[in-house]
Amino acid sequence: MKKLFSFLLLAAMVLPVMADEGMWLPMLLNRNEADMQAAGMRITAKDIYDANHACLKDAIILFNQGCTGEYVSAEGLFLTNHHCGYSYITSHSTVEHDYLTNGFWAMTREQELPCPGLTATRLVRMEDVTDQVLEGITSETSEKDREKIIENNIKKVGENAIKNTHYKYVIKPFYYGNQYFMYINEVFTDVRLVGAPPSNIGKFGGDTDNWMWPRHTGDFSMFRVYADKDGKPAPYAETNVPYKPLKHLDISLKGVEEGDFTFVFGYPGTTKRYVTSHEVAMTVEDSDPISIDLRTIRLKHYKAAMEKSPAQRLRYASKVASIANGWKKWQGEVEGIQRLKGIEQKQKQESIFNSWAENKPAYRNVLNELEEQYLIKRPIYRNLIFFNEAVMASDFMMRAHNLYNIYCLCKLGKEEEAQAAIAKFLQSNEKYFADFDQHTIVDKGIFVETFEYMIKAGYAPYLEHADLNKIYDNSMLTKKGAAEKFFKSFKTKNADKLGKDPAFALFSVAYSYAYTAESRKQYSEASQNINRLMRIYVKGLMEMYPDTQKGTTPDVEKPYFFPDANLTLRVAYGHVQGFNPRDAVYYKPYSTLDGIMQKENPDIYDYVVTPRLRELYQTKDYGRYANAKGEMPVAFIATNHTTGGNSGSPVLNADGQLIGINFDRCWEGTMSDLLFDPNYCRNISLDIRYCLFIIEKYAGAKHLVDEMTIIQ
Ligand code: ARG
Ligand code: ASP
Repeated sequence: MKKLFSFLLLAAMVLPVMADEGMWLPMLLNRNEADMQAAGMRITAKDIYDANHACLKDAIILFNQGCTGEYVSAEGLFLTNHHCGYSYITSHSTVEHDYLTNGFWAMTREQELPCPGLTATRLVRMEDVTDQVLEGITSETSEKDREKIIENNIKKVGENAIKNTHYKYVIKPFYYGNQYFMYINEVFTDVRLVGAPPSNIGKFGGDTDNWMWPRHTGDFSMFRVYADKDGKPAPYAETNVPYKPLKHLDISLKGVEEGDFTFVFGYPGTTKRYVTSHEVAMTVEDSDPISIDLRTIRLKHYKAAMEKSPAQRLRYASKVASIANGWKKWQGEVEGIQRLKGIEQKQKQESIFNSWAENKPAYRNVLNELEEQYLIKRPIYRNLIFFNEAVMASDFMMRAHNLYNIYCLCKLGKEEEAQAAIAKFLQSNEKYFADFDQHTIVDKGIFVETFEYMIKAGYAPYLEHADLNKIYDNSMLTKKGAAEKFFKSFKTKNADKLGKDPAFALFSVAYSYAYTAESRKQYSEASQNINRLMRIYVKGLMEMYPDTQKGTTPDVEKPYFFPDANLTLRVAYGHVQGFNPRDAVYYKPYSTLDGIMQKENPDIYDYVVTPRLRELYQTKDYGRYANAKGEMPVAFIATNHTTGGNSGSPVLNADGQLIGINFDRCWEGTMSDLLFDPNYCRNISLDIRYCLFIIEKYAGAKHLVDEMTIIQ
């Protein structure tokens, strides 16, 4: 096994590294060290990651399973984004105590708000476990056996590693299973909300400015980790004490200038750097455009409702934010790939690969086979997109899905589970009707229009002559008390009676249309095959380019290798830099409070500026947080390669001090999950000085700043 994978190590060692693209493994950062230092870094790889000593990595948190946070005090205080803390801020908000709208600041530790379910994970150490995980696998092992062997090995290796500790383990594949790394984690479960700016700061510009530069969003919130008296993770308890992190970040007030070295240390979720032209086509020709259209419909209905009252706004705010987020990103992605001619470039790469592989039996057919698998997968995938983005778009169909689950449990003879599902459904049903009247207009509109779209596209042939309005109106799901009445006399052996309900009937048909037994089998086989073939293809690419030179831009034909993001801790590095998004336009790399005042519009929710912020602006009361020109900096952009999950990540300077909080990317570069273009791809960070200014000057919560280590 060692031999088989030694080429990978070798490849990774000799590959030159280019700043900008790449999300690097902290444990292997010594390979990037020279490059990082040449780019301006003044610390060492060991300062960033060291399994045996406290280092920067001990200040980094995986916030739940989708954002990053960083410790900024010795008392467990950490920063992340407002949009990462959003659902916790919302869950503590009511119309009377609307923390989401007005902000929340704990003035004492007692006021900090517990957030059940929220976890903060610290990486203890990581380890290359490729040999152990692949033990027992030979070139003859079938894919099915391979999966089983790997699963067993992972369990064995992981459990052995955490024996007699309170740690947890995660082992993940890299390079499509050519390599495996183990992560030993410490997971804290008592995490409390400490502070959040009002929405008109934390979400300034809202969905209008989302994914865009110039940006003026004060996108941060603060939490504190609590531990038991020994400093170990413990479930929430009043007796828990603030956790003392092994390391918290120093904060620099020096700010940034164009050209400055920066790095981002966090948890990027998913990238697809090595996929073939077929996958890119499937994304930008099918999945993106279909999803964009269907979400446009949903957003129209939600937004109309949100204009009507503050209660409606609160009700849909979180939902709309998440629907709009993907919706907008995919539009940028499609444009970015078109601009780059991404599909053609991938095809070119593939033909080069094929010529190289001509005499290599291991690789000769891999791309042809991939193409065959995509021919099978793509039409099924289209169907699934319609199912997810249209069928499941309305609460009406989501709830019909509940009925369908009940039906299946009945048919399987799982009496107890069926009864439990019914009880759960009735409970949620009651809650649903508490504020149904307003909602029904929204939900019905979404249901009817998304299905109409699907019919038109030819993906709901079963509905051609149906009356959608009638289906909606005649279901027990839209009549208060009707479901209660139905289930009162319901016997699981007569589950077929559910068939009389038009919502149930429609969902069943839609579901079986999208998920026939045959298509399911084909889909999972094709997906498995693609995984296997990608493993071979990527291995081939690495063999083909063992000495990749820094390429032209963008370097599609000759990749240099970093493992795709997979929600493990990574370092990305680059420099502060503006860009030229289109003809005659140049974007400067930083924004200021002046820009907030320019955008101010009391009539548009997303651009309201509170009198307090205006006053601070007018009196220029910025304290030590102004830049040398006397401006209040708000955000800046840099060439760091980031993706979803990097939100909340610390942005650090050449000395490893905190200068910003990553929260977004520029729209023109959102294709970076597939292809990175240094001319367009920029991450957007909140300037730490604006964050501290808001905490101290705006909110008067100086006691929180006093906990931090500030380098003037
Ligand atoms: N685009 C950022 C990210 O992908 C921020 C999303 C939250 N903000 C919003 N206005 N929806 O997570
Ligand atoms: N806003 C994203 C996040 O929440 C970051 C990105 O996609 O660039 O992680």
